[in-house]
Amino acid sequence: MPQNKTEQPTKIPVHIGIIMDGNGRWAISRGLPRLAGHRAGTENLRRMIEACIDFGIRYLTIYAFSTENWGRPQEEVQGLLKIFENVIDRELQELSDMGVQLRHIGRLDGLKPSFQKKVMQAVDFTHHNQRLTLNIAFNYGGRDEIVCAIQNMIRDGVKPEAVTDELVGRYLFTAGARPRSDHSHLW
Ligand code: FPP
Repeated sequence: MPQNKTEQPTKIPVHIGIIMDGNGRWAISRGLPRLAGHRAGTENLRRMIEACIDFGIRYLTIYAFSTENWGRPQEEVQGLLKIFENVIDRELQELSDMGVQLRHIGRLDGLKPSFQKKVMQAVDFTHHNQRLTLNIAFNYGGRDEIVCAIQNMIRDGVKPEAVTDELVGRYLFTAGARPRSDHSHLW
């Protein structure tokens, strides 16, 4: 993190993506349960969010839970769901005060109704914020996103010749995120 203006990098990315990884190894190497690693990894998110805001980065995507992660032991899966819920309960107001808009990318259906409701309320609560868009990829899969987009295009009766780069963007989970050309001062 820059200590003063002269250290500010000249090229700032519009969007940074972070894949949460190594939580389990971090915990095991300390003789702790894997969930302790997931909690510690989550603590780091706060610093990442603050750093993105300091640098003027517009989008931060955190890949937290893939569609494949359902194959982990039940105790770990339930613990991860709980950690995400706790983050919303504990941090939402402060994140919103910092100007963070929370968005969920991934499939909400398939998650328990109370969880879906909490995530949707958090998204709704912060939708007016403009400083940093925080995409949480939870129950997300790249192929699954394509499947969802195609299903919805077919449902909407989109003709093959109408499928363009711009249209596909409107069917992705990130729909509504402004293109890079709208951020000409950023990289
Ligand atoms: C990767 O570490 C981490 C995960 C698969 C889960 C991360 C998700 C959370 C901590 C849930 C909370 C989410 C938010 C957004 C607050 P790993 O277990 O694959 O680590 P390893 O490679 O060392 O085994």
